Amino acid sequence: MTRYSPLASSMLVFLFWLISTNTSATERPPGKASIRADVLYHNYCSVCHGDRGDGNSRAKNSLVPPPKDFTRAPELTRETMITIITHGKPGTAMTGWKTQLNDKEMAALADYIRATFMQVSLDPKLQRGRVVYAQNCMVCHGERGQGAPSASGLIPPRDFTTPRARAELTRERMLAAVNNGRPNTAMAAFAKRLPASDINNVVDYIRAGLMLPASGGISGTNAHSGRQDQQAAEGMALPFANGLTGNMARGEKMYMANCATCHGTKGDGKGPRAYFINPKPRNFIDPNFRLAFNRPAIYTAVHDGRLGAEMPAWSKVLSEQEMTDVSEFVFRRFVQQGRGKQGK
Ligand code: HEC
Ligand code: HEC
Ligand code: HEC
Repeated sequence: MTRYSPLASSMLVFLFWLISTNTSATERPPGKASIRADVLYHNYCSVCHGDRGDGNSRAKNSLVPPPKDFTRAPELTRETMITIITHGKPGTAMTGWKTQLNDKEMAALADYIRATFMQVSLDPKLQRGRVVYAQNCMVCHGERGQGAPSASGLIPPRDFTTPRARAELTRERMLAAVNNGRPNTAMAAFAKRLPASDINNVVDYIRAGLMLPASGGISGTNAHSGRQDQQAAEGMALPFANGLTGNMARGEKMYMANCATCHGTKGDGKGPRAYFINPKPRNFIDPNFRLAFNRPAIYTAVHDGRLGAEMPAWSKVLSEQEMTDVSEFVFRRFVQQGRGKQGK
């Protein structure tokens, strides 16, 4: 099924203009000796397929079908790819490149895409790591590992895509962080929640699939900065990991019935039972709490409880929706109100 809206067609014209200006402005690599597939990809393909080969490009929304995510297309064989690069794919925006590129260049492009973007989907352990990541880490660290830094002082999840992260994060350090967590941040310890093999796989996936720049310094130069700025502004706006939306009114009822006895109706940790309890119930309006707890972090605390404290694991008595409702209430009433309008 192919549909082009007028907007999409004008977008296409723009794209081809963009591609041709890109091309003429950049020197074509000399034919034989050194084919720079990364340069070719950047000049001809990334405008639609994205700097990371995941189809995340400015063209994405105007193409039907959109470019496929190479990082999730293990079924693509090298031969199919070369055929499509050469002749195009009928009914899609993918035109054949045989008049502009020679056979070696097109083969080099297929190999480049496979080695750079498809590595993860072709390796079962890294594949497993990706699943573990999606289920446990993505909510804070972002789909592409860019994290969600906060404009307002929340200790942000690590952005795995920066050169600095690459320099600082050894495999050992990452394993330690995932096993033991990072004190006083939303980064929890996973040693008791995930088998060791999954912890290895998820760390290797992050290293192979998220930390590697797509190619030797060409792409990624400023591909992510816009997105990061946007994410920074949304630092506290992360949704719940379970995909649910919390209901404030139900959450408030739930809170007054189950939580206020310890955490207090004002969220200040001074409920009637607090006097008898050690450690004391968390004070939600304390600035440090406001800086460290977003929706997913609150939900995790409610779900798991706190070992060694009288904070029950509510997953035993409340449904996911109920825990989401009450977390939404804690977030909006106590965390967000104290931070002004941030992170609506
Ligand atoms: C104008 C946008 C655009 C450009 C530029 C572009 N592609 Fe595509 N490409 C697409 C679309 C759209 C598809 C089809 C996606 C689908 O069928 O799901 C596609 C499909 C493909 C496929 C087959 C994978 C599949 O989805 O079946 C390969 C391989 C491919 N492109 C490689 C390249 C290479 C290499 C370049 C650069 C030389 C390039 N493309 C440039 C839009 C583009
Ligand atoms: C609730 C949010 C949250 C979740 C879920 C989460 N993280 Fe984190 N992660 C963070 C924060 C916040 C930091 C920054 C901690 C710091 O700066 O010390 C971080 C830091 C890290 C670091 C770097 C630690 C260092 O030494 O700087 C690694 C590696 C990491 N996380 C991996 C993971 C993995 C793997 C998962 C899933 C199994 C995961 N995280 C789940 C919030 C989260
Ligand atoms: C019996 C008392 C008690 C009840 C009831 C209770 N909590 Fe707690 N809660 C605590 C204590 C104690 C802590 C602090 C533990 C600590 O300092 O590590 C805590 C901590 C928390 C935290 C922060 C976790 C952290 O790492 O600091 C959240 C979020 C939280 N509670 C939410 C809730 C919600 C929501 C409810 C109701 C569904 C609730 N609590 C009911 C005692 C209680």
